[in-house]
Amino acid sequence: MSIVNRQKDNKSRFKRVFLIVLDSLGAGALPDAAEFGDAGAFTLRSLSRSEKLFIPTLRRLGIGNTEGLGFLGTNDSPEAAVCKLAEKSNGKDSTIGHWEMAGVISPNPLPTFPEGFPDEVLKEFSRITGRGVLCNKPYSGTQVIADFGEQHMCTGDLIVYTSADSVFQIAAHEEVVPLSELYRICEATRKMLVGRYGVGRVIARPFEGSPGSFVRTPHRHDYSIEPPGETMLDALKEAGLDVISVGKIKDLFAGRGLTASHATSGNAEGMKTTAELVESDFNGLCFVNLVDFDMLYGHRQDADGYANALTEFDKWLSEFLPKLREDDLLMITADHGCDPSDDSTDHTREYIPLMMYGKSILPVNLGIRPTFADIAATIAEIFGVEYTCCGNSMLGELTDLRQHLVASAVRAMENSYSPYSGYKVGAALLAASGRIYSGCNIENSAYSPTICAERTAFAKAVSEAEREFRMIAVAGGKDGIVSGIFPPCGVCRQVMKEFCGPELEIILVEPEGYQSHTLAELLPCGFSL
Ligand code: THU
Repeated sequence: MSIVNRQKDNKSRFKRVFLIVLDSLGAGALPDAAEFGDAGAFTLRSLSRSEKLFIPTLRRLGIGNTEGLGFLGTNDSPEAAVCKLAEKSNGKDSTIGHWEMAGVISPNPLPTFPEGFPDEVLKEFSRITGRGVLCNKPYSGTQVIADFGEQHMCTGDLIVYTSADSVFQIAAHEEVVPLSELYRICEATRKMLVGRYGVGRVIARPFEGSPGSFVRTPHRHDYSIEPPGETMLDALKEAGLDVISVGKIKDLFAGRGLTASHATSGNAEGMKTTAELVESDFNGLCFVNLVDFDMLYGHRQDADGYANALTEFDKWLSEFLPKLREDDLLMITADHGCDPSDDSTDHTREYIPLMMYGKSILPVNLGIRPTFADIAATIAEIFGVEYTCCGNSMLGELTDLRQHLVASAVRAMENSYSPYSGYKVGAALLAASGRIYSGCNIENSAYSPTICAERTAFAKAVSEAEREFRMIAVAGGKDGIVSGIFPPCGVCRQVMKEFCGPELEIILVEPEGYQSHTLAELLPCGFSL
């Protein structure tokens, strides 16, 4: 018997992580989507119905192997590990989504003000700015200066407006309120708007021109809210690693936890910058947001445009992958959904897909995971950085097949049908083909027809024409928690002997770690004809 311990030092294995967020590429409605008005939302499925979608590279990686994404085409020899992640935070916007993937959960959504801001906010705003307020409603940015610009010029009052997003926008004519003053006003407003008034962004919206022909100047400036806790980015930076932002990442984190940033005008520039960074030497994280999917196509309900943009990304990806080095990890994911075919232009509460690709990454399927924060936990572990969040690192499973089998057996416990014993048992069987078949125990009121988890897994595999097997992991316990080893019963051992040689590895999961045995050890004198 051999005892294998859980973790080894992964510090040296990876030098760079590229985390690319395809903004709004949702992988299907979350179980609570109806509470957000998003029952049935499914961004990726809407895209799959467009004739413009052509994503051979993502399919090569194995996007279609993700739970629920089989309609994109499954792949028997995927190149990437896949899973989908649920959002634990109470929201569906970019800020909260990115914060969660960096380890910070938001129990409340960022506040929106469809009726305008309450009196107490405006009173305080006027006190600190010494100016009155015009508008105070959700408004289009160009219309608001056309409708209120002249009055603003006469009175010096500030044009305050919002949108469906969590924003406090302040428009002012550059000759009435000099830019430096407008920026000071925005900074003070940012400091003022905390707690239940903590909007995602305060935005300076300067304009120029005369009544009838006002135009916005390029001096817009965003003041984002800081993440309300330590992020994985902060921890990486603190540890002396590079943390590079591409696109709106810098805004979403209010510039915190970054060592460099590259602003971009959209997907094309974001992809170009990322392709330049892959040629450069850095040690740490390159965190990229490609915003066009959401901004240009999702919100505008343009499924063909969205599908086209994903097709373009796929083509770029085919050229990017060969540039990755031995010690690189690529993660491709999203931050929320924005189904272009649902009945609103708003974001949608969806799972996010996650693909992980690298020379030392096993192309395993990590199922459905409970929080985006698993991304933060994984990246922190990759760089050996102390960081605690509610996420669980996937690194062990991504780099060690036994750990993956162990985790798959634990996940298989969930479906156990065991009303009589109360013991949930899960098994994960690795076939010579590389495929993993999971199984759970299925009990029966007559007791003897009960099928053990191991035999469920074997039955599934053999009925899919598998005949050769390498390893099987077994996990069991009450209440879904591994409580001790569950060695296979005599009948299961005999079934194993039918299909496997004496070298079959049987992994018995323990509350911490696991033990490994061979079939020869567990069945020294099995029956055969
Ligand atoms: N069981 C398994 O599924 N596999 C094992 O290795 C040992 C036992 C199940 C059968 C039954 O549903 C429950 O555990 C309690 O005996």
